[in-house]
Amino acid sequence: MGVGPILRAEDLTKTYGTGPVRVTALCETTLAVAPREFVAIMGPSGSGKSTLLHLLGGLDTATTGRIFIRDIEITGLSDKELTLVRRRDVGFIFQSFNLLPTLSAEENVMIPIAIGSRSGAHKEKDAKRLDHLFALVNMEERRHHRPDQLSGGEQQRVAIARALVTEPAIILADEPTGNLDRRHGRDVLSLLQRSAADMGQTILMVTHDPAAAVFADRVIFLSDGAIVRELPLEGDGNVEAIIASLAELGD
Ligand SMILES: Nc1ncnc2c1ncn2[C@@H]1O[C@H](COP(=O)(O)OP(=O)(O)O)[C@@H](O)[C@H]1O
Ligand SMILES: [Mg+2]
Repeated sequence: MGVGPILRAEDLTKTYGTGPVRVTALCETTLAVAPREFVAIMGPSGSGKSTLLHLLGGLDTATTGRIFIRDIEITGLSDKELTLVRRRDVGFIFQSFNLLPTLSAEENVMIPIAIGSRSGAHKEKDAKRLDHLFALVNMEERRHHRPDQLSGGEQQRVAIARALVTEPAIILADEPTGNLDRRHGRDVLSLLQRSAADMGQTILMVTHDPAAAVFADRVIFLSDGAIVRELPLEGDGNVEAIIASLAELGD
Protein backbone atom coordinates (compact mmCIF):
# COMPACT_ATOMS: atom_id res chain seq x y z
CA MET A 1 0.00 0.00 0.00
CA GLY A 2 1.58 3.26 -1.10
CA VAL A 3 1.65 6.45 0.92
CA GLY A 4 0.60 9.67 -0.79
CA PRO A 5 3.12 12.42 -1.43
CA ILE A 6 3.72 14.89 1.37
CA LEU A 7 4.28 17.69 -1.09
CA ARG A 8 2.76 18.10 -4.51
CA ALA A 9 2.90 20.83 -7.14
CA GLU A 10 0.66 20.86 -10.19
CA ASP A 11 1.38 23.03 -13.24
CA LEU A 12 3.11 25.64 -11.13
CA THR A 13 3.86 28.86 -12.97
CA LYS A 14 5.42 32.03 -11.60
CA THR A 15 5.84 35.22 -13.59
CA TYR A 16 7.46 38.34 -12.21
CA GLY A 17 6.69 41.82 -13.48
CA THR A 18 4.41 42.84 -16.32
CA GLY A 19 4.70 43.88 -19.96
CA PRO A 20 8.18 44.01 -21.51
CA VAL A 21 9.95 43.23 -18.21
CA ARG A 22 7.87 40.12 -17.57
CA VAL A 23 9.96 37.11 -16.53
CA THR A 24 8.61 33.57 -16.37
CA ALA A 25 10.67 32.13 -13.52
CA LEU A 26 8.77 28.85 -13.39
CA CYS A 27 6.69 27.29 -16.16
CA GLU A 28 3.98 24.65 -15.52
CA THR A 29 6.11 22.61 -13.16
CA THR A 30 4.67 19.42 -11.73
CA LEU A 31 6.35 17.57 -8.90
CA ALA A 32 5.54 15.07 -6.15
CA VAL A 33 7.73 14.39 -3.13
CA ALA A 34 7.27 11.34 -0.92
CA PRO A 35 7.37 11.51 2.89
CA ARG A 36 10.98 11.26 4.15
CA GLU A 37 12.38 11.71 0.67
CA PHE A 38 15.50 13.89 0.25
CA VAL A 39 15.36 15.71 -3.08
CA ALA A 40 18.15 17.86 -4.51
CA ILE A 41 17.29 20.60 -7.02
CA MET A 42 20.01 21.61 -9.47
CA GLY A 43 20.24 23.85 -12.51
CA PRO A 44 21.94 26.97 -13.85
CA SER A 45 21.67 30.31 -12.09
CA GLY A 46 18.31 31.89 -12.90
CA SER A 47 16.64 28.56 -13.78
CA GLY A 48 13.96 29.02 -11.10
CA LYS A 49 15.32 26.90 -8.23
CA SER A 50 14.77 29.48 -5.48
CA THR A 51 11.41 30.45 -6.94
CA LEU A 52 10.27 26.82 -6.78
CA LEU A 53 11.44 26.47 -3.18
CA HIS A 54 9.79 29.73 -2.11
CA LEU A 55 6.47 28.77 -3.70
CA LEU A 56 6.50 25.28 -2.17
CA GLY A 57 7.19 26.75 1.27
CA GLY A 58 4.54 29.44 0.97
CA LEU A 59 7.09 32.29 1.09
CA ASP A 60 5.76 33.54 -2.23
CA THR A 61 2.56 32.92 -4.18
CA ALA A 62 2.26 31.19 -7.54
CA THR A 63 0.83 32.96 -10.58
CA THR A 64 -1.05 29.79 -11.58
CA GLY A 65 -1.03 26.16 -10.51
CA ARG A 66 -1.65 24.37 -7.25
CA ILE A 67 0.44 23.24 -4.28
CA PHE A 68 -0.59 20.64 -1.73
CA ILE A 69 1.07 19.87 1.59
CA ARG A 70 -0.34 16.46 2.47
CA ASP A 71 -3.93 16.91 1.35
CA ILE A 72 -4.14 20.60 2.11
CA GLU A 73 -4.04 22.94 -0.83
CA ILE A 74 -1.90 25.90 0.21
CA THR A 75 -2.44 27.87 -2.97
CA GLY A 76 -5.42 30.06 -2.27
CA LEU A 77 -5.00 30.18 1.51
CA SER A 78 -5.13 33.59 3.16
CA ASP A 79 -1.86 35.10 4.41
CA LYS A 80 -2.85 34.26 7.94
CA GLU A 81 -3.63 30.61 7.15
CA LEU A 82 -0.44 30.34 5.11
CA THR A 83 1.61 31.65 8.02
CA LEU A 84 0.18 28.90 10.20
CA VAL A 85 0.98 26.20 7.63
CA ARG A 86 4.50 27.58 7.25
CA ARG A 87 5.06 27.67 10.98
CA ARG A 88 3.75 24.14 11.52
CA ASP A 89 4.95 22.27 8.44
CA VAL A 90 8.00 23.98 6.97
CA GLY A 91 11.53 24.72 8.17
CA PHE A 92 13.82 26.92 6.06
CA ILE A 93 17.60 26.87 5.81
CA PHE A 94 19.34 29.61 3.80
CA GLN A 95 22.77 30.02 2.25
CA SER A 96 23.56 32.98 4.52
CA PHE A 97 22.41 31.23 7.75
CA ASN A 98 20.18 34.22 8.70
CA LEU A 99 20.87 34.01 12.43
CA LEU A 100 20.11 37.05 14.57
CA PRO A 101 23.51 38.47 15.56
CA THR A 102 22.59 39.70 19.05
CA LEU A 103 21.12 36.37 20.19
CA SER A 104 22.95 33.26 21.39
CA ALA A 105 22.84 30.02 19.41
CA GLU A 106 20.22 28.71 21.81
CA GLU A 107 18.07 31.84 21.60
CA ASN A 108 18.24 31.70 17.80
CA VAL A 109 17.04 28.10 17.80
CA MET A 110 14.16 29.06 20.09
CA ILE A 111 12.86 31.85 17.85
CA PRO A 112 10.27 29.68 16.03
CA ILE A 113 8.85 28.33 19.30
CA ALA A 114 9.13 31.55 21.28
CA ILE A 115 6.12 32.98 19.48
CA GLY A 116 3.31 33.36 22.00
CA SER A 117 3.81 32.61 25.67
CA ARG A 118 4.96 29.16 26.69
CA SER A 119 4.02 27.91 30.10
CA GLY A 120 5.11 25.17 32.54
CA ALA A 121 4.71 21.88 30.69
CA HIS A 122 5.74 23.49 27.41
CA LYS A 123 8.91 24.93 28.93
CA GLU A 124 10.06 21.56 30.17
CA LYS A 125 9.36 19.99 26.81
CA ASP A 126 11.16 22.84 25.04
CA ALA A 127 14.24 22.37 27.24
CA LYS A 128 14.34 18.65 26.41
CA ARG A 129 13.92 19.39 22.73
CA LEU A 130 16.76 21.93 22.79
CA ASP A 131 19.05 19.42 24.49
CA HIS A 132 18.22 16.86 21.85
CA LEU A 133 18.69 19.30 18.95
CA PHE A 134 22.03 20.66 20.16
CA ALA A 135 23.26 17.09 20.58
CA LEU A 136 21.96 16.21 17.12
CA VAL A 137 23.86 19.04 15.42
CA ASN A 138 26.87 18.47 17.64
CA MET A 139 26.84 21.96 19.15
CA GLU A 140 26.33 21.23 22.84
CA GLU A 141 29.48 23.16 23.79
CA ARG A 142 28.47 26.25 21.83
CA ARG A 143 24.89 26.84 22.92
CA HIS A 144 25.62 30.19 24.52
CA HIS A 145 27.87 31.56 21.80
CA ARG A 146 26.70 34.38 19.56
CA PRO A 147 26.84 33.88 15.77
CA ASP A 148 30.00 36.04 15.42
CA GLN A 149 31.73 33.64 17.82
CA LEU A 150 30.95 30.67 15.56
CA SER A 151 32.43 29.45 12.27
CA GLY A 152 30.26 29.32 9.14
CA GLY A 153 29.79 25.58 9.54
CA GLU A 154 28.75 26.00 13.16
CA GLN A 155 26.34 28.81 12.27
CA GLN A 156 24.70 26.61 9.66
CA ARG A 157 24.36 23.81 12.22
CA VAL A 158 22.55 26.25 14.50
CA ALA A 159 20.33 27.20 11.56
CA ILE A 160 19.56 23.52 11.00
CA ALA A 161 18.56 23.15 14.66
CA ARG A 162 16.36 26.23 14.28
CA ALA A 163 14.69 24.74 11.19
CA LEU A 164 14.03 21.50 13.07
CA VAL A 165 12.79 22.95 16.35
CA THR A 166 9.11 23.00 15.41
CA GLU A 167 9.48 19.45 14.06
CA PRO A 168 8.19 20.49 10.65
CA ALA A 169 7.36 17.78 8.13
CA ILE A 170 9.31 19.54 5.39
CA ILE A 171 12.75 21.16 5.35
CA LEU A 172 13.51 23.55 2.49
CA ALA A 173 17.19 24.45 2.08
CA ASP A 174 18.45 26.96 -0.50
CA GLU A 175 22.14 26.34 -1.16
CA PRO A 176 22.81 25.52 2.51
CA THR A 177 26.47 24.78 1.80
CA GLY A 178 27.01 27.68 -0.62
CA ASN A 179 29.02 29.68 1.93
CA LEU A 180 30.95 26.73 3.36
CA ASP A 181 34.13 25.00 2.29
CA ARG A 182 33.96 21.38 1.13
CA ARG A 183 34.64 19.73 4.44
CA HIS A 184 32.26 21.86 6.48
CA GLY A 185 29.69 21.55 3.72
CA ARG A 186 29.87 17.79 3.93
CA ASP A 187 29.60 17.84 7.73
CA VAL A 188 26.52 20.06 7.56
CA LEU A 189 24.87 17.82 4.99
CA SER A 190 25.45 14.60 6.84
CA LEU A 191 24.02 16.32 9.92
CA LEU A 192 21.02 17.50 7.96
CA GLN A 193 20.50 14.03 6.52
CA ARG A 194 20.88 12.36 9.91
CA SER A 195 18.65 14.87 11.73
CA ALA A 196 15.95 14.57 9.12
CA ALA A 197 16.09 10.79 9.31
CA ASP A 198 15.90 11.00 13.11
CA MET A 199 12.80 13.17 12.97
CA GLY A 200 11.28 11.68 9.81
CA GLN A 201 11.53 14.82 7.71
CA THR A 202 11.30 15.40 3.99
CA ILE A 203 14.05 17.59 2.52
CA LEU A 204 14.19 19.70 -0.62
CA MET A 205 17.61 21.23 -1.15
CA VAL A 206 18.83 23.54 -3.88
CA THR A 207 22.52 23.12 -4.63
CA HIS A 208 25.15 23.74 -7.30
CA ASP A 209 27.47 21.15 -5.86
CA PRO A 210 27.34 17.52 -7.06
CA ALA A 211 29.12 16.52 -3.82
CA ALA A 212 26.15 17.99 -1.92
CA ALA A 213 23.46 16.62 -4.24
CA VAL A 214 24.81 13.12 -3.78
CA PHE A 215 23.30 13.08 -0.26
CA ALA A 216 19.83 13.11 -1.81
CA ASP A 217 17.60 10.22 -2.90
CA ARG A 218 16.76 11.96 -6.17
CA VAL A 219 18.04 14.94 -8.15
CA ILE A 220 15.73 17.21 -10.12
CA PHE A 221 17.28 19.39 -12.82
CA LEU A 222 15.71 22.71 -13.73
CA SER A 223 16.37 24.73 -16.86
CA ASP A 224 14.53 27.91 -17.86
CA GLY A 225 11.87 27.32 -15.23
CA ALA A 226 11.07 23.74 -16.18
CA ILE A 227 12.07 20.32 -14.83
CA VAL A 228 14.12 18.83 -17.64
CA ARG A 229 15.45 15.71 -15.96
CA GLU A 230 15.19 13.58 -12.84
CA LEU A 231 17.91 11.30 -11.58
CA PRO A 232 17.19 8.74 -8.86
CA LEU A 233 20.24 8.01 -6.71
CA GLU A 234 20.83 4.58 -5.26
CA GLY A 235 22.53 3.91 -1.95
CA ASP A 236 25.32 6.40 -1.47
CA GLY A 237 24.48 8.23 -4.65
CA ASN A 238 26.65 8.68 -7.67
CA VAL A 239 28.58 11.90 -8.16
CA GLU A 240 29.64 10.96 -11.69
CA ALA A 241 26.03 10.50 -12.80
CA ILE A 242 25.15 13.94 -11.44
CA ILE A 243 28.15 15.57 -13.12
CA ALA A 244 27.30 13.82 -16.40
CA SER A 245 23.68 15.08 -16.23
CA LEU A 246 24.84 18.64 -15.55
CA ALA A 247 27.26 18.47 -18.48
CA GLU A 248 24.55 17.13 -20.81
CA LEU A 249 22.23 19.91 -19.74
CA GLY A 250 24.95 22.46 -20.37
CA ASP A 251 25.43 23.75 -16.82
N1 LIG B 1 11.51 39.13 -7.24
C1 LIG B 1 11.81 38.98 -8.53
N2 LIG B 1 11.46 39.91 -9.44
C2 LIG B 1 11.74 39.75 -10.75
N3 LIG B 1 12.37 38.68 -11.26
C3 LIG B 1 12.76 37.72 -10.41
C4 LIG B 1 12.50 37.81 -9.00
N4 LIG B 1 12.99 36.69 -8.40
C5 LIG B 1 13.55 35.95 -9.39
N5 LIG B 1 13.40 36.56 -10.60
C6 LIG B 1 13.82 36.03 -11.89
O1 LIG B 1 13.27 34.74 -12.05
C7 LIG B 1 14.22 33.85 -12.63
C8 LIG B 1 14.47 32.69 -11.68
O2 LIG B 1 15.10 33.17 -10.50
P1 LIG B 1 15.51 32.22 -9.28
O3 LIG B 1 14.36 31.38 -8.93
O4 LIG B 1 16.08 33.09 -8.23
O5 LIG B 1 16.65 31.32 -9.95
P2 LIG B 1 17.78 30.40 -9.28
O6 LIG B 1 17.48 30.26 -7.84
O7 LIG B 1 17.72 29.12 -10.06
O8 LIG B 1 19.08 31.10 -9.53
C9 LIG B 1 15.46 34.70 -12.91
O9 LIG B 1 15.39 35.14 -14.25
C10 LIG B 1 15.32 35.85 -11.96
O10 LIG B 1 15.97 36.98 -12.45
MG1 LIG C 1 18.62 30.78 -6.14
